Amino acid sequence: MSAPPDLPEIVARAFDVSRRAGYVSFCRNETGRLLAMLAATRDGTMAEFGTGCGVGTAWLRSGVRGEKARIVTAELDARLARAAAEIFTDDPLVEVLAADWSTLLDRGPYSLLFLDSGEPAAVGVDAVVDLVEAGGIVVLDDFAPCEMWPPISGGRVDILREQWLTDERFTAVEVMVAPDAAVVIATRR
Ligand SMILES: C[S@@+](CC[C@H](N)C(=O)[O-])C[C@H]1O[C@@H](n2cnc3c(N)ncnc32)[C@H](O)[C@@H]1O
Repeated sequence: MSAPPDLPEIVARAFDVSRRAGYVSFCRNETGRLLAMLAATRDGTMAEFGTGCGVGTAWLRSGVRGEKARIVTAELDARLARAAAEIFTDDPLVEVLAADWSTLLDRGPYSLLFLDSGEPAAVGVDAVVDLVEAGGIVVLDDFAPCEMWPPISGGRVDILREQWLTDERFTAVEVMVAPDAAVVIATRR
Protein backbone atom coordinates (compact mmCIF):
# COMPACT_ATOMS: atom_id res chain seq x y z
CA MET A 1 0.00 0.00 0.00
CA SER A 2 1.42 3.40 -0.96
CA ALA A 3 -0.86 5.59 1.12
CA PRO A 4 -2.13 5.62 4.68
CA PRO A 5 -5.35 3.62 5.09
CA ASP A 6 -7.11 6.34 7.09
CA LEU A 7 -9.65 8.34 5.13
CA PRO A 8 -10.12 12.09 5.50
CA GLU A 9 -13.13 12.72 7.74
CA ILE A 10 -15.19 14.23 4.91
CA VAL A 11 -14.58 11.15 2.74
CA ALA A 12 -15.61 8.82 5.57
CA ARG A 13 -18.81 10.85 5.84
CA ALA A 14 -19.42 10.46 2.10
CA PHE A 15 -18.99 6.69 2.40
CA ASP A 16 -21.58 6.64 5.19
CA VAL A 17 -24.05 8.52 2.99
CA SER A 18 -23.30 6.21 0.05
CA ARG A 19 -23.87 3.15 2.18
CA ARG A 20 -27.21 4.43 3.44
CA ALA A 21 -28.26 5.21 -0.14
CA GLY A 22 -27.15 1.75 -1.27
CA TYR A 23 -24.86 3.36 -3.83
CA VAL A 24 -21.56 1.75 -4.81
CA SER A 25 -20.41 3.52 -7.95
CA PHE A 26 -17.76 5.77 -6.43
CA CYS A 27 -14.17 6.44 -7.36
CA ARG A 28 -11.62 4.21 -5.72
CA ASN A 29 -9.46 5.55 -2.93
CA GLU A 30 -6.33 5.65 -5.09
CA THR A 31 -8.11 7.96 -7.54
CA GLY A 32 -9.54 9.91 -4.62
CA ARG A 33 -6.10 10.58 -3.21
CA LEU A 34 -4.99 11.79 -6.61
CA LEU A 35 -8.02 14.11 -6.77
CA ALA A 36 -7.19 15.48 -3.32
CA MET A 37 -3.59 16.11 -4.28
CA LEU A 38 -4.60 17.89 -7.49
CA ALA A 39 -7.24 19.93 -5.65
CA ALA A 40 -4.53 21.09 -3.26
CA THR A 41 -2.78 22.74 -6.23
CA ARG A 42 -5.90 24.65 -7.32
CA ASP A 43 -7.58 27.98 -6.68
CA GLY A 44 -10.75 29.01 -8.48
CA THR A 45 -13.66 26.78 -9.38
CA MET A 46 -13.37 23.03 -9.74
CA ALA A 47 -16.17 21.03 -11.34
CA GLU A 48 -17.25 17.43 -11.31
CA PHE A 49 -19.52 15.86 -13.93
CA GLY A 50 -21.39 13.05 -12.18
CA THR A 51 -21.49 13.43 -8.39
CA GLY A 52 -22.84 9.99 -7.56
CA CYS A 53 -23.12 10.06 -3.79
CA GLY A 54 -20.35 12.61 -3.32
CA VAL A 55 -17.30 10.45 -2.65
CA GLY A 56 -15.20 12.00 -5.41
CA THR A 57 -16.43 15.44 -4.36
CA ALA A 58 -15.38 14.71 -0.79
CA TRP A 59 -11.91 13.67 -1.93
CA LEU A 60 -11.60 16.92 -3.89
CA ARG A 61 -12.84 18.87 -0.88
CA SER A 62 -10.32 17.18 1.39
CA GLY A 63 -7.52 18.62 -0.73
CA VAL A 64 -8.80 22.20 -0.95
CA ARG A 65 -6.55 24.79 0.69
CA GLY A 66 -8.07 27.94 2.18
CA GLU A 67 -11.04 29.82 0.82
CA LYS A 68 -9.89 30.58 -2.70
CA ALA A 69 -11.24 27.40 -4.25
CA ARG A 70 -14.81 26.22 -4.84
CA ILE A 71 -16.28 22.95 -6.05
CA VAL A 72 -19.43 22.63 -8.10
CA THR A 73 -20.72 19.19 -8.98
CA ALA A 74 -23.69 18.02 -11.04
CA GLU A 75 -25.67 14.79 -10.67
CA LEU A 76 -28.52 13.81 -12.96
CA ASP A 77 -30.21 11.53 -10.43
CA ALA A 78 -32.03 13.85 -8.01
CA ARG A 79 -32.08 11.24 -5.24
CA LEU A 80 -28.29 10.84 -5.37
CA ALA A 81 -27.77 14.59 -5.62
CA ARG A 82 -29.87 15.10 -2.48
CA ALA A 83 -27.86 12.47 -0.63
CA ALA A 84 -24.55 14.02 -1.73
CA ALA A 85 -25.73 17.52 -0.78
CA GLU A 86 -26.26 16.24 2.77
CA ILE A 87 -22.50 15.73 3.13
CA PHE A 88 -21.79 19.38 2.40
CA THR A 89 -24.80 21.07 4.05
CA ASP A 90 -22.70 23.49 6.08
CA ASP A 91 -19.92 23.87 3.56
CA PRO A 92 -19.96 27.13 1.58
CA LEU A 93 -17.21 25.84 -0.72
CA VAL A 94 -19.22 22.99 -2.24
CA GLU A 95 -22.35 23.24 -4.37
CA VAL A 96 -24.20 20.09 -5.43
CA LEU A 97 -26.60 20.53 -8.34
CA ALA A 98 -29.33 18.05 -9.20
CA ALA A 99 -28.86 18.58 -12.91
CA ASP A 100 -27.37 17.36 -16.13
CA TRP A 101 -23.69 18.29 -16.29
CA SER A 102 -24.47 20.51 -19.27
CA THR A 103 -25.76 22.97 -16.64
CA LEU A 104 -22.12 23.59 -15.81
CA LEU A 105 -21.22 24.61 -19.35
CA ASP A 106 -21.88 28.29 -18.71
CA ARG A 107 -20.23 28.41 -15.28
CA GLY A 108 -16.64 27.82 -16.34
CA PRO A 109 -13.82 28.15 -16.97
CA TYR A 110 -12.68 25.66 -14.36
CA SER A 111 -9.32 25.17 -12.73
CA LEU A 112 -10.01 21.44 -12.48
CA LEU A 113 -12.59 19.29 -14.20
CA PHE A 114 -13.31 15.75 -13.02
CA LEU A 115 -15.20 14.01 -15.83
CA ASP A 116 -16.95 11.09 -14.18
CA SER A 117 -20.49 10.87 -15.53
CA GLY A 118 -19.79 7.55 -17.23
CA GLU A 119 -20.65 8.92 -20.68
CA PRO A 120 -17.38 8.57 -22.60
CA ALA A 121 -18.73 9.91 -25.88
CA ALA A 122 -19.87 13.11 -24.18
CA VAL A 123 -16.49 13.97 -22.71
CA GLY A 124 -14.33 14.25 -25.78
CA VAL A 125 -11.76 17.04 -25.89
CA ASP A 126 -13.83 19.29 -28.14
CA ALA A 127 -16.81 19.14 -25.79
CA VAL A 128 -14.93 20.45 -22.78
CA VAL A 129 -11.82 22.29 -23.94
CA ASP A 130 -13.38 25.74 -23.57
CA LEU A 131 -14.44 24.93 -20.01
CA VAL A 132 -10.87 24.60 -18.80
CA GLU A 133 -8.73 27.61 -17.97
CA ALA A 134 -5.12 27.77 -19.16
CA GLY A 135 -3.15 25.59 -16.77
CA GLY A 136 -6.39 23.93 -15.70
CA ILE A 137 -6.48 20.17 -15.18
CA VAL A 138 -8.88 17.56 -16.53
CA VAL A 139 -9.17 14.16 -14.83
CA LEU A 140 -10.82 11.16 -16.52
CA ASP A 141 -11.34 8.05 -14.42
CA ASP A 142 -11.96 4.34 -15.01
CA PHE A 143 -9.48 3.23 -17.65
CA ALA A 144 -7.95 -0.22 -17.71
CA PRO A 145 -4.15 0.17 -17.82
CA CYS A 146 -2.85 -0.48 -21.33
CA GLU A 147 0.75 -0.79 -22.49
CA MET A 148 -0.04 -0.67 -26.20
CA TRP A 149 -0.28 2.24 -28.56
CA PRO A 150 -2.82 3.11 -29.71
CA PRO A 151 -4.59 2.11 -26.51
CA ILE A 152 -6.89 -0.89 -26.86
CA SER A 153 -9.94 -1.48 -24.73
CA GLY A 154 -12.40 -4.36 -25.25
CA GLY A 155 -10.57 -5.35 -28.46
CA ARG A 156 -10.94 -1.90 -30.05
CA VAL A 157 -8.87 1.24 -30.19
CA ASP A 158 -9.87 3.38 -27.24
CA ILE A 159 -10.59 6.52 -29.23
CA LEU A 160 -11.42 8.67 -26.21
CA ARG A 161 -8.14 7.88 -24.47
CA GLU A 162 -6.17 8.27 -27.70
CA GLN A 163 -7.78 11.65 -28.29
CA TRP A 164 -7.04 12.97 -24.81
CA LEU A 165 -3.44 11.77 -24.94
CA THR A 166 -2.68 13.34 -28.31
CA ASP A 167 -4.66 16.59 -28.51
CA GLU A 168 -2.27 19.52 -28.84
CA ARG A 169 -4.39 21.76 -26.64
CA PHE A 170 -3.48 19.61 -23.64
CA THR A 171 -0.40 17.99 -22.15
CA ALA A 172 -1.70 14.66 -20.92
CA VAL A 173 -0.58 11.47 -19.26
CA GLU A 174 -2.11 8.14 -18.34
CA VAL A 175 -1.32 7.27 -14.74
CA MET A 176 -1.85 3.87 -13.17
CA VAL A 177 -3.34 4.40 -9.74
CA ALA A 178 -3.53 0.63 -9.06
CA PRO A 179 -2.49 -2.49 -10.99
CA ASP A 180 -5.95 -2.63 -12.57
CA ALA A 181 -6.89 1.04 -12.77
CA ALA A 182 -5.66 4.08 -14.67
CA VAL A 183 -6.70 7.68 -15.02
CA VAL A 184 -5.88 10.24 -17.67
CA ILE A 185 -4.79 13.65 -16.43
CA ALA A 186 -4.51 16.52 -18.89
CA THR A 187 -3.36 20.11 -18.40
CA ARG A 188 -4.73 22.84 -20.70
CA ARG A 189 -1.90 24.53 -22.55
C1 LIG B 1 -19.29 6.85 -11.72
S1 LIG B 1 -20.64 7.67 -11.00
C2 LIG B 1 -19.91 9.07 -10.25
C3 LIG B 1 -19.02 8.79 -9.10
C4 LIG B 1 -18.48 10.00 -8.39
N1 LIG B 1 -17.88 10.96 -9.29
C5 LIG B 1 -17.46 9.58 -7.35
O1 LIG B 1 -16.25 9.67 -7.63
O2 LIG B 1 -17.85 9.16 -6.27
C6 LIG B 1 -21.41 8.42 -12.39
C7 LIG B 1 -22.61 9.30 -12.04
O3 LIG B 1 -22.87 10.17 -13.14
C8 LIG B 1 -24.25 10.42 -13.18
N2 LIG B 1 -24.58 10.94 -14.51
C9 LIG B 1 -24.76 10.23 -15.68
N3 LIG B 1 -25.04 11.07 -16.68
C10 LIG B 1 -25.03 12.33 -16.17
C11 LIG B 1 -25.26 13.62 -16.71
N4 LIG B 1 -25.52 13.79 -18.00
N5 LIG B 1 -25.16 14.69 -15.89
C12 LIG B 1 -24.87 14.53 -14.57
N6 LIG B 1 -24.67 13.33 -13.99
C13 LIG B 1 -24.74 12.24 -14.78
C14 LIG B 1 -24.86 9.06 -12.86
O4 LIG B 1 -26.18 9.22 -12.37
C15 LIG B 1 -23.90 8.52 -11.81
O5 LIG B 1 -24.37 8.78 -10.50
